[in-house]
Amino acid sequence: MQKTIFSGVQPSGNLHLGNYLGAIRNWVAMQKKYSSIFCIVDLHAITAPQDPKQLKEKIIEVAKIYLAAGIDPEESTIFVQSQIPQHAELMWILNTITKTGELYKMTQFKDKVGASKTKENLLSVDAGLLNYPILMAADILLYDVHLVPVGEDQLQHIELARTLARRFNDRFGETFTVPEPYVLKEGMRIMGLDNPAKKMSKSAPSKYNRIELLDSPDEIREKIRKAVTDSGSAIEYSDEQPAIKNLLNIFSLITNTHPKKIASNFEDQGYKKFKEDLAGSIIEFLSPFQKKYHETSDAEVLMQLKNGKEKLLSIAEKKIKEVKKKVGFI
Ligand code: TYM
Repeated sequence: MQKTIFSGVQPSGNLHLGNYLGAIRNWVAMQKKYSSIFCIVDLHAITAPQDPKQLKEKIIEVAKIYLAAGIDPEESTIFVQSQIPQHAELMWILNTITKTGELYKMTQFKDKVGASKTKENLLSVDAGLLNYPILMAADILLYDVHLVPVGEDQLQHIELARTLARRFNDRFGETFTVPEPYVLKEGMRIMGLDNPAKKMSKSAPSKYNRIELLDSPDEIREKIRKAVTDSGSAIEYSDEQPAIKNLLNIFSLITNTHPKKIASNFEDQGYKKFKEDLAGSIIEFLSPFQKKYHETSDAEVLMQLKNGKEKLLSIAEKKIKEVKKKVGFI
């Protein structure tokens, strides 16, 4: 039997090259080999305040991005998390076997709460933000997923999903498959263009942090022109030059060329030419994707999401029934 993979993106903010190179690109490559489920995690998105009208648009936008990036609905299932109520139901049950300490130590939680982790600050954080990783565990465990293809920032959350699967199995008998993360070294952590010490992020306040998948050629040129560089002017692939290393990584991934080879091609040419060529390559790389995105209609997307929901509902219902029985519900 084919193994199952599952992954998702939050429909919050604008998707960027980090999401694509760290996650979606790998999904596209894996979908033929695995039974593949890709989710738009709207329940996760509301752990930060969302404008309802915008959220609705973003859900459709992310689904369109999946299709335009090459997720084939014949091979894979795409769906919206809130349309399968068993995600929230399983989350509640997993909630009762999770220690709050396991949640407070999450790096993503700590980043979101900010530097001032005073008691007062912690008390004012919404419970949803703290419990977020339990919902992610429910997403994964509901479908007996074997592999979870993600960027590096999600590894800690997958570790919790593994812990909860084992804990539930130990307490109530074999129920859940223990999932494995799937992370490719290349692309697993694309850094911000404005700060190579922090990952590229949908929620970073400055638009100069990221290349968004739907950016126009002019926006891409401007953002790459403004991308921070290291002191000196050499183009070398080294940890001493984290900003250039990040740009070389992006260049390498979108052109399928070794980063050291690219560095040697630009050795004596200076940052200006390097950045112009990088911007050109990103524009070329995103162009067919963007064309497909604009050709995909809302109606097509809504139909695929409906199909996805119908396909998964019976699997989710069956699993939650088994879980409830094990727990002792009548
Ligand atoms: P999200 O929406 O933050 O990110 C979606 C995917 O993109 C990856 N990613 C990156 N990869 C490389 N470099 C970056 N700078 C970068 N930024 C983001 C993320 O690792 C992720 O794979 N909690 C998840 C969504 C989720 C999920 C799940 C994932 C919910 N349930 C179940 C897998 C399985 C999230 O917020 O991803």
